[in-house]
Amino acid sequence: MPTNKYIYFFRYDTTESMLCKLESKCIFNKQEEHKQLFSNVKIEPSRSAFIKRRLDVISFSTDYDILIDQIKRENIQTDGFKVEYLILEGDLTRNTERLAKLKDVGFCINSYPDYHNPTVTYGICTYENIWYFGVLIKNNFAWQNHKQKPYSYSNSIKQNIAKALVNIAVDSKQEVKLLDACCGVGTIMLEACFAGYEIDGCDISWKICKNARANLSHFNYVGEVHCSDIKNITKLYDAAIIDLPYNLFSAATEDNILHIIKSTSVITDRIVIVSTAEITNAISRAGLRVVNYCIVSKRGKANFTRRIWVCESVDKYKTKEK
Ligand SMILES: C[S@@+](CC[C@H](N)C(=O)[O-])C[C@H]1O[C@@H](n2cnc3c(N)ncnc32)[C@H](O)[C@@H]1O
Repeated sequence: MPTNKYIYFFRYDTTESMLCKLESKCIFNKQEEHKQLFSNVKIEPSRSAFIKRRLDVISFSTDYDILIDQIKRENIQTDGFKVEYLILEGDLTRNTERLAKLKDVGFCINSYPDYHNPTVTYGICTYENIWYFGVLIKNNFAWQNHKQKPYSYSNSIKQNIAKALVNIAVDSKQEVKLLDACCGVGTIMLEACFAGYEIDGCDISWKICKNARANLSHFNYVGEVHCSDIKNITKLYDAAIIDLPYNLFSAATEDNILHIIKSTSVITDRIVIVSTAEITNAISRAGLRVVNYCIVSKRGKANFTRRIWVCESVDKYKTKEK
């Protein structure tokens, strides 16, 4: 009976569905379906805005009674435990039966429960005729503290999107050097630092750079912010993110967009580009190949759409094909 070590549970708005699927493809090499995903890849739920919980599977069985025996044999003695029933796609178990099953599992654990402030939360669920039991790890949402950053920017990117962009740029690698090529006040940099990645930023405006630095140091994060036109950056990076200007404080002319993308492509082979405008032409003129794409709209504002392109340098493919 092949199974996975982890079951991930997702939560997202319908407007973010494509983004969440693209993010999960990059993290797990597999797309989430029905807001759930089975994988052997272990990541902290708080690395993503969309992963609500991770079940670390301890026991599983096609037979519920055998699973209960297995849990008993684990001889768990954790004081202050709690058990939650998790509903996966296709589980039609009625509420009364679910409560009875929570009791069954609770009685297998030789300690006192604490429903309000549990020390450990266990989970039970069923999918495609297999019952699973494990430890439940929740997204702690500590990253939402970043909302209290000292400096904000009217066209800053939404935190959920910023976190996904980092995961998409990283693409399941362990150690990467990232660049936020048009960093603004550093919304994306904060999320990369929270996840433990090395990231530098670059912005053409000295005032915005000053604010980005203040935001980073407010949370004790380390990240270099270059006050420069992106064309002057010579350091090489594993991947870059570009949240292109929207004509608010700097010109989003075709020439400027091409200039920013081309300059970034000189220092990295993988670029995740965000724009409200259609810029496919500029991407190919910059010598990049689109390997993935998605859109995110704003809830209640169907006309405001952010487009996200995952691009790789065409030269990289040429080198590979040689
Ligand atoms: C959409 S904003 C980025 C917002 C940012 N993601 C945030 O959340 O704060 C685009 C930024 O690109 C910067 N910019 C424009 N042209 C640039 C260039 N040639 N090199 C570097 N930065 C540039 C602007 O100053 C602006 O802050």
